[in-house]
Amino acid sequence: MPKNRKKEKDKKKKKRKQAKEVVRDRHLLYSASVQSADADLDFFQRVYKRKRGKRFTTLREDFCGTALLACEFVKRGPRNRAIGIDLDRPTLDWGRGRYLPALGKAAERLTLIEGNVLDPGHPKAEVVAALNFSYSVFKTRDPLRGYFAAVRKALLPGGLFFLDAFGGTEAMDEDEEDRKIPSSTAFDGTKIPKFTYVWEQAAFNPVNHDILCHIHFKLADGARLRRAFTYDWRLWTLPELQELMLEAGFAEAEVYVEGWDDEEDDTDGIFRRRKRFENQSGWVAYVVGLT
Ligand SMILES: C[S@@+](CC[C@H](N)C(=O)[O-])C[C@H]1O[C@@H](n2cnc3c(N)ncnc32)[C@H](O)[C@@H]1O
Repeated sequence: MPKNRKKEKDKKKKKRKQAKEVVRDRHLLYSASVQSADADLDFFQRVYKRKRGKRFTTLREDFCGTALLACEFVKRGPRNRAIGIDLDRPTLDWGRGRYLPALGKAAERLTLIEGNVLDPGHPKAEVVAALNFSYSVFKTRDPLRGYFAAVRKALLPGGLFFLDAFGGTEAMDEDEEDRKIPSSTAFDGTKIPKFTYVWEQAAFNPVNHDILCHIHFKLADGARLRRAFTYDWRLWTLPELQELMLEAGFAEAEVYVEGWDDEEDDTDGIFRRRKRFENQSGWVAYVVGLT
């Protein structure tokens, strides 16, 4: 084959290969499509600084899964220490195997605990975070209040508790929503080519607010990871979360939501404290418990 034609063929082959390169690891795909540890930590530091006049250096990540948030936190500064707690050993082991080597010596400032967040005696911290709605596994007021009370006891003086919540006019609909995720690099350096994230609200029961959700992934080579994650939750409302925090001993509970950018016709990415806001088809909020 003439040299030029071979070069051309090789180029096309490489392009085809690149187009089909995919990552199939559900934890990596989840990290690229669901988690935003940097933005979460920036927000926590901003609120902590405003409330306490300093930066926090100890973080407990409840329901930590792969402990991405805790890893990002210890990576951010040599004085930072983090604790991650999760029930599921395989998920913790995935984080240990993937993220801890990327941390190097900083991993010494991270403690991962296989355990139940409801159990007393876990290490204390200035900030406790329960993200991606994980507390929604507690489906009635008593266990959720019990969890909030355990967090309240685990906070060092002046500590803050951060959780997130979702809602809006479509939050109770049975619905499936696709979002295209651009290529990115994971915490451990793995290149993740673009893919599609699918959030499915499969069932909602108005009597008790039970909600069943799935995450699916569609990959560039046409493969699908159906039900990569399934969540059997209660859809808690913002007033319920605030009331339960107060009942559990928090001095105050505050709600933060993003503003609206008229020009972009989208949220502006800046979470501000709100006592009221106009309902939207879908929103995500942080609820902050103050000691
Ligand atoms: C939705 S994932 C959250 C992962 C991660 N925190 C995030 O922000 O994406 C929920 C995690 O909570 C864990 N989990 C559920 N109930 C728990 C409990 N009572 N105590 C500790 N972990 C729990 C599950 O094993 C799972 O890894």
